[in-house]
Amino acid sequence: MVQNWTPNSWRNKPIQQVPDYPDLDALAATEGRLAKFPPLVFAGEARRLTKALGQVAEGKGFLLQGGDCAESFAEHGADTIRDFFRAFLQMAVVLTFGAQQPVVKVGRIAGQFAKPRSSNIEKQGDIELASYRGDIINGIEFTPEARVPNPERQIMAYRQSAATLNLLRAFAQGGYANLDNVHQWMLGFVKDSPQAERYRKLADRISETMDFMKAIGITSETNASLRETDFFTSHEALLLGYEEALTRVDSTSGDWYATSGHMIWIGDRTRQPDHAHIEYCRGIKNPLGLKCGPSLSADGLIELIDILNPANEAGRLTLICRFGHDKVAEHLPRLIRAVEKEGRKVVWSCDPMHGNTITLNNYKTRPFERVLSEVESFFQIHRAEGTHPGGIHIEMTGNDVTECTGGARAVSAEDLSDRYHTHCDPRLNADQALELAFLLAERMKGGRDEKRMVVNG
Ligand code: TRP
Ligand code: MN
Repeated sequence: MVQNWTPNSWRNKPIQQVPDYPDLDALAATEGRLAKFPPLVFAGEARRLTKALGQVAEGKGFLLQGGDCAESFAEHGADTIRDFFRAFLQMAVVLTFGAQQPVVKVGRIAGQFAKPRSSNIEKQGDIELASYRGDIINGIEFTPEARVPNPERQIMAYRQSAATLNLLRAFAQGGYANLDNVHQWMLGFVKDSPQAERYRKLADRISETMDFMKAIGITSETNASLRETDFFTSHEALLLGYEEALTRVDSTSGDWYATSGHMIWIGDRTRQPDHAHIEYCRGIKNPLGLKCGPSLSADGLIELIDILNPANEAGRLTLICRFGHDKVAEHLPRLIRAVEKEGRKVVWSCDPMHGNTITLNNYKTRPFERVLSEVESFFQIHRAEGTHPGGIHIEMTGNDVTECTGGARAVSAEDLSDRYHTHCDPRLNADQALELAFLLAERMKGGRDEKRMVVNG
């Protein structure tokens, strides 16, 4: 059992990134209502995810984690969810085929609403307002009224998460993710891109294999693993009042779980070991992510691992590395060596988005070639250190947006204004996401052949 911890013990600690709610009684009342709402996920599901991630930590799987930077109330709709899920399934199938390993599928979805900000205020011209902190807290419109934190938004975020999760569960378990449909996940606007041809070829091979299996009596009707997939949810556990309200005891084990999502992560800005976010996360049993940026020292990382995963359970902790394409070679090896030296079991995941953000024509963007470059370095460094490059963490959408430059259908700096829809950071569009999946699959295949050579040689 975790010592001296309760779901609200974080309240006695220093805290970063807290919204300035004008009416604290209204906030407390909302949290009281949320505390009575049903859980969004179940402890048993979170345990299953920990187990799957434990396999990844042992080098026997790959974590695919992705979704919006920030979900929004305005973009909530069946088409957006379906198109995201299609793009995600395509990536998953490409990776499964490439790595010939199970792919653990975790969306940044159904709860990814709260955003840390580098500044408390936003200035436009002569006007200064409180920064936008995500739809669960305030509104994105640049007006004084919209920027006031409103607790009622937490209720809306909870309801949206529940509806989103409901549809995702139906897609994952109800037939949409059936491998018989592998050709149908292609999105309309991707159909004439270079990735489409590659994907079609791969889908043809899968269909052929399925036909062969059918001939010998293994079909999606008789075999659930061909018909269904496990899809998990995740978000940054930033708004701790909301998280606390959804923290529940699991009756079978007596352990505490965050029931707002299967996996939650701690941001690079809120990982101070003696502060509130670490305090909250250490006490819940869900699998955790920890964002690791350039300012994290090797000793600092081991200290955090001691707090978050004292039992050294494989799958409990995923280190989500976000250094930047030009910094990863400087920072990743020293963290890997510290973790290896101490014998800690972690999943190493690469977030090639957050360290590669630049501004072009007044748009926040990410050059796709830098995203790919950070991924390449991540794989090379792990090969050199003899550790497992276990996963990828990306911001992506199934919509045909122009938010990141580059890719096979070259989005230019001038194109950014065409379909720039994100509420926060720039996301890969479905085409770019698929291109990234093919690159990952190749690298993973490379690693497999290398291993085989070692074994055979
Ligand atoms: N159940 C397996 C898995 O989730 C195979 C599978 C079914 C699958 N549908 C899928 C894999 C869709 C990727 C995408 O891995
Ligand atoms: Mn982001």
